[in-house]
Amino acid sequence: MKTSIRQRDSFDFDWKFNLDDPADAKDPALDDSKWQDVQLPHDWSIALQIDEKAPAWGSGGWFPGGVGWYRKSFDVSGDEAGKVFWIEFDGIYHNSDVWLNSQHLGRRAYGYSSFHYDLTPHLKPGARNVIAVRVDNSDQPNCRWYSGSGIYRHAWLTKTSGAARAAHWGAHVTTSNISRESADVRICTSIETSSPGVAIETTIFAPDGSTVGSARSGKDFDQTIRIKSPLLWSAQKPDLYVARTVVLVEGKPVDDYITTFGIRDIRFDKDRGFLVNGAPVKLKGVCLHHDGGAVGAAVPDRVLERRLQILKDLGCNAIRCAHNPPSPEVLDFCDKMGLFVIDEAFDKWAGAFSKPNEWWMRQRDFDANWEQDLRAMLQRDHNHPSIILWSVGNETGQPGTDQVDPTLEKLVEVARREEPSRPVTAALVNSNAHTREERIARIVKCAKLVDVLALNYQEPMYEHIRAADPNLVIVGSETFKYFRGGEMNVHSFEPINPWWDVLKHDYVVGSFLWPGIDYLGESTKFPNKGWATGILDTCGFLRPEAWFFRSAWRPGDPVVRIGVFDDSIPQEITSWGSPLMKEHWNWPGCEGKLLRLQTQTNCQTVELIVNGKSMGTRKARDYRNNAIEWFVPYQPGSVEAIARNESSGTGSPLVSSAFESITTVDSDFHPVAAAAVFGGFFSGARPDAAGTAAATVVRETGEPPVPRIVARHELRTAGPTAKIALVADRAVIRADGQDVSHIEVRLEDDAGVLVPDDRARIEISLEGAGRLLALDSGDLSDAQPFQSPVRTARDGRCLAIVQSSRRPGIIKLTARSGGLAPATVEIAVK
Ligand code: GAL
Repeated sequence: MKTSIRQRDSFDFDWKFNLDDPADAKDPALDDSKWQDVQLPHDWSIALQIDEKAPAWGSGGWFPGGVGWYRKSFDVSGDEAGKVFWIEFDGIYHNSDVWLNSQHLGRRAYGYSSFHYDLTPHLKPGARNVIAVRVDNSDQPNCRWYSGSGIYRHAWLTKTSGAARAAHWGAHVTTSNISRESADVRICTSIETSSPGVAIETTIFAPDGSTVGSARSGKDFDQTIRIKSPLLWSAQKPDLYVARTVVLVEGKPVDDYITTFGIRDIRFDKDRGFLVNGAPVKLKGVCLHHDGGAVGAAVPDRVLERRLQILKDLGCNAIRCAHNPPSPEVLDFCDKMGLFVIDEAFDKWAGAFSKPNEWWMRQRDFDANWEQDLRAMLQRDHNHPSIILWSVGNETGQPGTDQVDPTLEKLVEVARREEPSRPVTAALVNSNAHTREERIARIVKCAKLVDVLALNYQEPMYEHIRAADPNLVIVGSETFKYFRGGEMNVHSFEPINPWWDVLKHDYVVGSFLWPGIDYLGESTKFPNKGWATGILDTCGFLRPEAWFFRSAWRPGDPVVRIGVFDDSIPQEITSWGSPLMKEHWNWPGCEGKLLRLQTQTNCQTVELIVNGKSMGTRKARDYRNNAIEWFVPYQPGSVEAIARNESSGTGSPLVSSAFESITTVDSDFHPVAAAAVFGGFFSGARPDAAGTAAATVVRETGEPPVPRIVARHELRTAGPTAKIALVADRAVIRADGQDVSHIEVRLEDDAGVLVPDDRARIEISLEGAGRLLALDSGDLSDAQPFQSPVRTARDGRCLAIVQSSRRPGIIKLTARSGGLAPATVEIAVK
């Protein structure tokens, strides 16, 4: 629903941009005709060549920063004199200064806050007006990940009544007394006016658009409306209501304000865990940074939506916004899709670390600004039903010491006062105390300051911490995707997936993988641009490890998936990583040799068929993490996994036997130790010393397969590349200059099998009503800019991201590679 009196329009188009710092750039008379034409969201860094000498170094993914100016001219008609005009920026990275007609409106240091300025005092109705924005991202490094540079989120222009109006972010909705029969919706509206005789009228619309309640108030603007038979918001059924508040002066409507909200009851209970509308729910979460991979920090809404949808389809139900407030659209999508959110204000605080690391703080001048930025997050976001926890920081120093506790107390106090409807937390780093007892004592001390204890990589400590304070509710705010850290050494490789720690204890409400999707920045080596241990790569393609989570997060939906370990490549393994697995059956040179396979499942048994011959049937519960291990002789052809359940079974008995026989390796990581752990990690079946095929039947159940086939997965050997196939996620997009189609460019054999080892060069050309926004293969060490139309395929494919223009028509994308016939796909732009 949109407002019909207040006008709030996109202010994204027709900007001029200059990557320079001219002295007169705020002067409306400046001739900016030679400046570049850009639209928002805009990130100037992503289009620049990465550079080993870039001052942001690996933290910023080696992208250059600098100072840039934006200008936009716009006309205001003389009829609009007397109205109030606001400009809203959802995010500018960073140190922005804004002028209207040469008048300075304000400065914002923190690049992740949304903010607005009142244009009215300096606006010239009946004339041309010029907004100028200076963005200074030259003080690099200033962020531990890729920040992007510029006006990288949407901007909006609001025109509303000069007589009376709802304030900016002016309505706060809370719901209470929720039952099947009814719920109370309280709407507190803050009104700006100089007129007497102001009233407000609020109407509530149900998800189907019908009116379900209303109220009119004359004096105070705190309304409570009882809704009958409310539809409750949940991850499975994210029903959204809308409140429309009309502001009246002497009975005449002058402004209206729309608030989308959900009716749901959330609680964190020390015995039952996280309760949504009374029922326990585990948070199946991932941490996400704000970039969209190849598009950098300027992420089109549809790119966000697709990424979140892929995660949701895997069974993920929660996002931790690491480590800053996201764009408003992320929260809108989470509301609509049913994803719970931890909304986080800051990464490290000032003073959390000693000198060499203090540059992390430059991004916002913490001491001067934290309160304004924390409040901005709380005020902007409080109506989103998806948000279940406020986090006031990530790894802000040593918990339980003066580095953290006094500041934490201050921030939590502000959050509770400003927005008491959600609990408050902060993600705590592993303590560096020398003894286990001291670590526990420090965490428990710090935990008293928050409502929910959020711990990064500390699963082995959960039981000790909870024993020391049985009132604690714990969430794993960051976990590895494959290993568990040891009690005293987070970088040890405990061979167990941290998800089991969530299932094991009711008081552990969930966990958040680091990271859900590969991100730019935090690179340790040029030209690698990012951190690549997500279960999705930057293209949104699933890594084989994603299937552990798909099977664990959706236990009722049978799945089996084959992964083949690539033991040929020496692997550099970190705590965040996992052994290299591939999903293909092209292993030239390995004919007749044994390959190590894994079938990840949530079903009871898996039978493996290699080139028509059964390799036996195995029970998932005999294997750690339900990842059945196989050694099978390789010949080109096919390998198929057939998963079965007892006829009465509903799928996964994902087992706590995962906890059995854990080998604790609590030593510092080094390659030899890692190899030893990997050697022992895949429990049970290993080939005998000679590596004969006889090993393939070790640990076979010996039982006949149970009858009900519930899932299958097959890998087939690809022949030589014969064609290019183009698969668009959407064949029709909106002609709004913002919408996006993602086109997978696949190198296939003549039977349509992806050719996994083809690393051919792919070239894209595009005609018609759109532009190529980015081309990506997911390979972060490819130094070619994402905006280039040429890219080397990875695993036989890449992804083209195409954006519509504002005029309807057809986008015709053609892909070429070597001597193959070019392939074309058409996207309708309407
Ligand atoms: C964590 C930190 C994250 C990220 C991650 C992997 O400790 O909270 O922001 O840096 O390590 O590098």
